[in-house]
Amino acid sequence: MRVTRLWIKDFRNIENVVLEFGDKLNIFTGKNGSGKTNTIEALRMSLSLKSHRENKNVNFIRHSCSRADVKAEIVFDDLTTATSHLAILPNKKSVKFDGQENMKKNTLRLNCPVIFFAPEDLDLIKGGPSVRRDFIDEAVSFLSPRYAKELKEYYEILRQKSFLLKNYRESDKGLLELYNEALAKCGSSIVRHRIKFLREFDEYLISLHRSLSGSDDICLNYISNIYDDASSALTEEIYLLKLSERSREEILSRQCLLGIHKDDIAVILSGRNSRSFASQGQQRTLAICMKLGMIGFYKEKTDQKAIVMLDDVMSELDSQRRSQLIEILSDTQTFITATEDNFSHDAAEKKIFSVSDGIITTIADNRP
Ligand SMILES: Nc1ncnc2c1ncn2[C@@H]1O[C@H](COP(=O)(O)OP(=O)(O)OP(=O)(O)O)[C@@H](O)[C@H]1O
Ligand SMILES: [Mg+2]
Repeated sequence: MRVTRLWIKDFRNIENVVLEFGDKLNIFTGKNGSGKTNTIEALRMSLSLKSHRENKNVNFIRHSCSRADVKAEIVFDDLTTATSHLAILPNKKSVKFDGQENMKKNTLRLNCPVIFFAPEDLDLIKGGPSVRRDFIDEAVSFLSPRYAKELKEYYEILRQKSFLLKNYRESDKGLLELYNEALAKCGSSIVRHRIKFLREFDEYLISLHRSLSGSDDICLNYISNIYDDASSALTEEIYLLKLSERSREEILSRQCLLGIHKDDIAVILSGRNSRSFASQGQQRTLAICMKLGMIGFYKEKTDQKAIVMLDDVMSELDSQRRSQLIEILSDTQTFITATEDNFSHDAAEKKIFSVSDGIITTIADNRP
């Protein structure tokens, strides 16, 4: 898919602007605080209802205005078209997509695959295990509705078990066993799904990382606190056995001590865990690869090529990585924000916008 036109009205510091995009690279340059991130945030929200910054409706509406509107015109890969209209009011935000009111986030995602990378996404590598679990859960849930259901079920039982442990009495033993059986059933299936996904994802990741950095010495290891290693038999029985072995400890500490909600994914670069060993630029490269690795899965699931938005990622990449990234994305509609354009010289086709105080003007357009 690609977005051909965007209308932004009273969104953050942008009063009223219509932008025509190129099919390939679109760059927004300007000083700090000029409205670059606001522009791609508006675009992203019009296609997904999601923002990486916050969720409070009034903060998106330009000061002293009553509502914000963003309209995107989309051309899909089969050349059909649609309009997505985001309306933000102080008490409600909704998207009307192709004439359909109140589109759900999940339906939007199936229609408009968007990959968004912001500086905060460095946490995919640097942050705690929950960031990586969320990444994988979101990806696998998207690919498999059954997984999403199991995950929901797992967390519901976990909540009940936590409550039981907090107020545990000996007479609760039977109920605790029932909870453990249910957790073992969902939990073992969740681990199998996650590991299967990682095996497929690894390929995309290695190939992207090789293109971007020249190194393919990278892999993803699933770290389970139930199974000794990912190649062992990931059965419900072993899961239950592990839960039973630690049951006494859980009762004494009044907490759930193990399960898939504590697992992690180690991103291994040159044999070491990148979370503690990789440099900031290497971590950023890895995080970008993890995000871009989803392009292939989106294509399989939605039959659409995702569009890519990169907020402020160029500043920390060396010049070779910058050019490689542009090269990798040369066939994808891409939106990049940067205070200065020191990366697009080799791009065959690009459009450059200058952003100043919420006003956006085209400064270069070398589309054929
Ligand atoms: N609701 C709002 N109404 C008016 N202005 C707003 C609103 N929300 C944010 N802003 C303004 O938007 C500006 C920030 O814009 P943005 O985050 O897009 O900057 P940027 O160009 O990406 O800067 P940087 O290079 O630092 O990332 C700030 O000056 C902020 O005050
Ligand atoms: Mg910004």
